Amino acid sequence: MGTMSLLICLVLVALWPVAFGDIVSGVPDSAPPGFEEWISPIVVPAKPVSGDGPWASAVARARDLVSQLTLDEKINITTGAGGNLACVDGTGALPRFNFSGFCLQDSPLGVRDTDYASAFPAGINVAATWDKQLMYDRGFAMGAEHLGKGVNMIFGPMTNLGRVAAGGRNWEGFGADPYLAGVATAQTVLGIQDNNVIACVKHFYGNEQEHYRGGGSSSEQIYSSNIDDRTAHELYIWPFAEGIRAGAASIMCSYNKVNQTQNCQNSKLLNGIIKEELDFQGFIVSDAAAVRSGVDTALAGLDMHSPGFFYFGTGPYNGGASLPNEGNPDNTTYSWWGSNLITAVMNGSVPESRVDDMVTRAFAALFFTGQDLTRTPNFNYQTEDTYLNGVLVNEHVNVMENHGQLIREIGAASIVMLKNTGVLPVDVTKYRRYGIFGSDAGPNPQGPNGCADRGCDQGTLAMGWGSGTANFPYLIDPNMAITWYVYNNRPDTMIESVLDDYDYASINQVASQADICLAFVNADSGEEYITVDTNEGDRNNLTLWHSGEAVINASTSYCSNTIVVVHSVGPVLLEEWIDNPNVTAVLWAGLPGQETGNSLVDVLFGAVNPSGRLPYTLARQRGDYPADVLYESNMTTPQITYYERLMIDYRWFDAQSIVPRYEFGYGLSYTTFNYSSLSLYGQGISKRDDVNNFDARWVTDTSMAPTATYNPYLNQTYPGGPLSFSDTMYTVTFKVTNSGLRDGYEVAQLYLGFPESAMEPPKVLREFNRVWIKAEETSTVSMTLLRKDISIWDVISQSWIIPSGTFTVYIGKSSRDIQLTGSFEQ
Ligand code: BGC
Repeated sequence: MGTMSLLICLVLVALWPVAFGDIVSGVPDSAPPGFEEWISPIVVPAKPVSGDGPWASAVARARDLVSQLTLDEKINITTGAGGNLACVDGTGALPRFNFSGFCLQDSPLGVRDTDYASAFPAGINVAATWDKQLMYDRGFAMGAEHLGKGVNMIFGPMTNLGRVAAGGRNWEGFGADPYLAGVATAQTVLGIQDNNVIACVKHFYGNEQEHYRGGGSSSEQIYSSNIDDRTAHELYIWPFAEGIRAGAASIMCSYNKVNQTQNCQNSKLLNGIIKEELDFQGFIVSDAAAVRSGVDTALAGLDMHSPGFFYFGTGPYNGGASLPNEGNPDNTTYSWWGSNLITAVMNGSVPESRVDDMVTRAFAALFFTGQDLTRTPNFNYQTEDTYLNGVLVNEHVNVMENHGQLIREIGAASIVMLKNTGVLPVDVTKYRRYGIFGSDAGPNPQGPNGCADRGCDQGTLAMGWGSGTANFPYLIDPNMAITWYVYNNRPDTMIESVLDDYDYASINQVASQADICLAFVNADSGEEYITVDTNEGDRNNLTLWHSGEAVINASTSYCSNTIVVVHSVGPVLLEEWIDNPNVTAVLWAGLPGQETGNSLVDVLFGAVNPSGRLPYTLARQRGDYPADVLYESNMTTPQITYYERLMIDYRWFDAQSIVPRYEFGYGLSYTTFNYSSLSLYGQGISKRDDVNNFDARWVTDTSMAPTATYNPYLNQTYPGGPLSFSDTMYTVTFKVTNSGLRDGYEVAQLYLGFPESAMEPPKVLREFNRVWIKAEETSTVSMTLLRKDISIWDVISQSWIIPSGTFTVYIGKSSRDIQLTGSFEQ
């Protein structure tokens, strides 16, 4: 440790017992005994928007607008206007400019709480396709639907990583690998914003579990995710950075704390990382009621306080100006900002220039995504009725177009075939009698939208629960789709379905007569504000719901040809039944959205050759994962320390030589692929690599920029990272031959092994490509390694560096099934 760092540490340690987080005095939040090293430093002032990269004209236009606004008008845009708006959240209006305020709407898989809109496959499913185009197409279609409903911004994509297998909201995001999640985030952002809707990448950051996440009352326990600088950059911030590089115009700060400080007032996170390091040009919005202070949040870099009131459920009923029990943000008593922010400006606590910057960023985001001030929502999330209190609120605009086709395609492309002894694809001419078992095959008796925000596990599982949901316009369940398909192709077939998970006698009876059986099982999770079957968002365990293991057993005991279909939010344990010879195939179908049954039929009967790949590892036992949910804590701030650092998911299994049941990247096909002829071409670009994105131009004293003296890229700041991040350092080509008899997609994966001195995991994903190859044909696959891909975050120089030594390139069908190996020197 250098003298300077030692000095800083000593100062911090000396301060912690007395200090409370306070931006004004520059004292960081303290840590409880035993966690002293986990303190988030203060980074002020907030860097104003600069109009870098493609943002110049949007920022100029926003500046022009903001220069015409009064302080009151500006404050209207910074502060949410409560919960009684058309959209789940939104700001005040600018009547003088005919602007009705920002409409901010969930969710990451469709337009939440409305009618005539689609229910797309969850984020975890589009990640399981490993298909960049499908990721983009899904974002584009969701953008179109939000646009059609008059929404300015989607609260999505959500890109927190699957650090803990039971994490309640993992399914909203893109799995357990930052590179895969980064690509999915970028593609989703591009798709959404190409349809003139702002994408808000959430929840920044360290929000990997639901227990103690925050967002409730003033006295609740809120956890601190203790994350070291390198892990933060290489894992948890990475997907956000990729989103920003793709142009994401908004970032949401999360409920939790990182290194003791509440995220929405964590100046290191907002000012330091998002605005300085990532040169973010859009605006930072708080998660709903994630704000815990007024002046501190403003100075720390928050730009929009949503939904404007202090806390959920703590205000008096205020005559409909907000939700019945939330304080009206118009009233000084009920908002951290609003008129309190005006006071803070007037008394000098917050410079007005900071408020100008907040509003400039908000409008720059609007203009950057091709919007103007005229858009207004044509629905109301509070009701599907046409009128609310006598006012027309819902025009029932149908935005579904033919998105059902894309949903069906993604659903099928995301199915991971885990096991197949030869029964798949099912030859419909061959079987005379089907048995279909389990509630997961059929409808929810209360209707597809019977449980608010999908807060129950009834019927087939096609999305988790919470704010990350949308209403189903219809739900093609598997039982319906299979019956219809078989009936249409072979009408003289018997099909008997037992949808009661606990009626083992009936399952036994049907199974004993059937020549093909399908057992449907699931595992559900969601957001903390709803508890389902004692699961408070996070799952209590990794077993199947409704004793799914017993449903499988009831089938396999009598039916030697049982196909298991799993709809799950994340990993479950398969050990009880996976090796049972009567389990002849297993399809891992995730959360496929409204077309779930059709997607399944496509794979089951062979219209689609499966190509989905696991976006996380399926372990043999829960304890094999490196980290778990913190369920119980009596600390005021429960401490969740990311001790495993870079070693999550497959990185951990590789490093510890733990044999998983099915590894990250795994998935079978109806055909076979062979790999050959690996070549690596270095582009001869200089290794000069101590690049970062700090921009000294906005501070007068350049010594404040930590690396100003030697950083050659200093003036190349660009949203999401320096331009040089995208330098192609290596091109990798190889051949893939479809050696089977069916056309199909292969998902080729590139993993990189760093020089030992870099202390990276044994291998990390750095590229992938889903390629269509006809039977008996060969394709040449080309991949690139960019400067960022071969860099690591250096905590001393606070920049990305390329370590010296030998790099190994692994080309494989999964993280463990490596087919080709090469190397290069740096
Ligand atoms: C969730 C966010 C969501 C917001 C608005 C919060 O509770 O964490 O993901 O966008 O509510 O509904």
